[in-house]
Amino acid sequence: LAKFLGVSDPGQLQAIEAAALLHDMGKLAIPEHILNKPGKLSAAEFDKMKAHAEIGADLLSSIKFPYPVVPVVRHHHENWDGSGYPCGISGPDIPLGARILAVVDCFDALTSDRPYRPALTPHQAFQILLERRGTFYDPLVVDTFIREFDGISSKVAAAVGSAQVHFAATLAPAHLVESRTESFDSVDVECSCKAVASKSTPREAFQSAADCLHRLLPTAVSAYYEYNSQADRLKCSFKAGHQSELLNGLEMSLGDRVSGWTAATGTASLNSHATLDLRELADRFSPPLRSVLAVPLVAGNDLVGVFTLYSDLPDAFSHDHEVIASTLGRAFVMVLRRSHPHAPALSGTAVNS
Ligand SMILES: [Fe+2]
Repeated sequence: LAKFLGVSDPGQLQAIEAAALLHDMGKLAIPEHILNKPGKLSAAEFDKMKAHAEIGADLLSSIKFPYPVVPVVRHHHENWDGSGYPCGISGPDIPLGARILAVVDCFDALTSDRPYRPALTPHQAFQILLERRGTFYDPLVVDTFIREFDGISSKVAAAVGSAQVHFAATLAPAHLVESRTESFDSVDVECSCKAVASKSTPREAFQSAADCLHRLLPTAVSAYYEYNSQADRLKCSFKAGHQSELLNGLEMSLGDRVSGWTAATGTASLNSHATLDLRELADRFSPPLRSVLAVPLVAGNDLVGVFTLYSDLPDAFSHDHEVIASTLGRAFVMVLRRSHPHAPALSGTAVNS
């Protein structure tokens, strides 16, 4: 559809393709009972549901896409007449990719079975798109979609089987491959994020994140240091990996060591020597731990804690590893937020190991 609308810039097309796959990623932060509610959502439930566009955009903003995916995700529920969300922008102020996504997303929903109604035929769905033409949807996008539908749907049918593979291939060489380590499959990272966010307890979410961080990164040991604002200290709440029990009870002041510095500055720390974080403990691991990647975990403006990964190789971590750790960290924070919904800062809450 983008091509039929005259989009020819390869970056723009890739952005729309990526956004088409990832646009509803923010729904992983929406409670299951709202997502799966068979009837109409209440106003309060709808307000919660609306948050998914911004949450998705915020999650994806930690990934350095070489093309503009985030605006398309953020604005995919804006309406042509300005009545949509999250920003209420209208007309051509809405990114074209988001206007395209709005139309095809609606068509896809209408032509899929739902618990409360069977799938509509394409023709029935066209009627609804036409009713919303000029209010919800860009008239040109609706008209082009309906006019070119036969050509688009045959291409889609042919492409569906290879879409995921193609997506991973288009993303990976550009920026998710680190030449001296393994390549990353962005779909794998996204699936891991969803797995983390779907856990019901922080402990399960940490374990799920650690599984991914140990599988994709040269991580030997990983730890979650929880921030306690009253004591202004970090404490190892969860840990994973060989001999990680050596970290039991480890505490540090804000600003102290690598993890404490990461927490105090809100800045990730890449490839410091492990002894700067663990002191003599680093050499008690077998093999000894040599390098550290620490990423801060925040909820809004509030410090939650730090994810710290240790490797037995020197300079083991890359910037891409930092992006992956941060992305999984955000999914972990979502689970923390869900389990402590009334503790905005989360600090001082007891997440015991
Ligand atoms: Fe959506």
